[in-house]
Amino acid sequence: MSELPLLLRVARGEKGERPPVWMMRQAGRYMKAYRDLREKYPSFRERSENPDLAIEISLQPWHAFQPDGVIMFSDILTPLPGIGIPFDIVESKGPIIDPPIRRRAQIEQLRPLEPEESLPFIKTILTSLRKEVGNRSTVLGFAGAPWTLAAYVVEGRGSKDYTVIKSMAFSEPDLLHKLLDKIATAIATYIRYQIDCGAQVVQMFDSWAGHLSPQDYETFVLPYQKKVVQMVKATHPDTPLILYISGSAGILEKMAQSGVDIVSLDWMVDMAEARQRLGAHVKVQGNIDPAVLFGSHQFIRQRIYDTVAKAGNTGHILNLGHGVLVGTPEDNVRFFFETAKQIRY
Ligand code: CP3
Repeated sequence: MSELPLLLRVARGEKGERPPVWMMRQAGRYMKAYRDLREKYPSFRERSENPDLAIEISLQPWHAFQPDGVIMFSDILTPLPGIGIPFDIVESKGPIIDPPIRRRAQIEQLRPLEPEESLPFIKTILTSLRKEVGNRSTVLGFAGAPWTLAAYVVEGRGSKDYTVIKSMAFSEPDLLHKLLDKIATAIATYIRYQIDCGAQVVQMFDSWAGHLSPQDYETFVLPYQKKVVQMVKATHPDTPLILYISGSAGILEKMAQSGVDIVSLDWMVDMAEARQRLGAHVKVQGNIDPAVLFGSHQFIRQRIYDTVAKAGNTGHILNLGHGVLVGTPEDNVRFFFETAKQIRY
């Protein structure tokens, strides 16, 4: 059996017998198995950087639901210590970077990423995941995109208004460009490393880039997404790349200009409209409101069929418009996967 897994084939542009299906944040707190492990190992850094734990967590949804994509358990902040920015993830506060990076001297001191040295666990995790799932599923790597990582690094934490990084963008743009450029190079290096270690598809999360005006997106976001994509495609042209942004309805066409193969949609845009705006050459993923998983089985089935009908029978990866929400019934996640896998075009 040498046939490549469905998600990889569809991501490369082949026609599948049904849409492949996986979920963003499919490993996480909505799962009891994860919450139990989290009690035993309370440090997020340990759960994601101890390969045995990260492998076990990545495989929890695989064992429970057999998704078409198995995403490694990690975080978009994971590569930051390797360039000289330590972080922690604190219960009920989220990611914390202390001190935040705001001064020129701090930006100048950032080191180039040497993934073999600072991220050796990634190799163990991805190699093991590939061995475990074989050709039955596709192993996904991921990374944060430059703007979103810069937002965490400059703000020092998650933010609602992004006033610190926007102040930097609007009053000291050269400084921010310098930071974005360094992060872009590090992220490209990191994605290349993930692919060398076994990632078959890589998703870039620019989760907070939807908070910028289209004009500022063109200045501070798009050039650095492009830089990452171009660097990765130069050495790894056959690995499909996905881009996700939350709040992307106003900038869909610009997302595609990044050069990624697949645009991952949130749910504030209609799938049929997104397809039309993006054109046939751009593949799509996502679009189902994660809160749909709080509805009845019948409601979930309707939304799946509705999305699949609007997306058409090529270049569509079934997924949510953002991560699985905490509190989502596991039985509904199971129902979503079972229903999706029974579809035939
Ligand atoms: O999808 C998967 O199953 C892989 C795991 C994954 C995590 N984070 C694990 C995690 C992925 C793909 C991410 C990406 C990530 N991390 C993003 C982009 C995706 C998105 O949501 O837009 C962002 C913005 C982050 C930064 C981050 N890390 C946030 C906002 C949080 C949540 C803070 C909170 O407490 O609610 C984290 C922590 C984190 N990363 C958790 C998980 C499962 C929850 C904390 C925990 O388990 O202790």
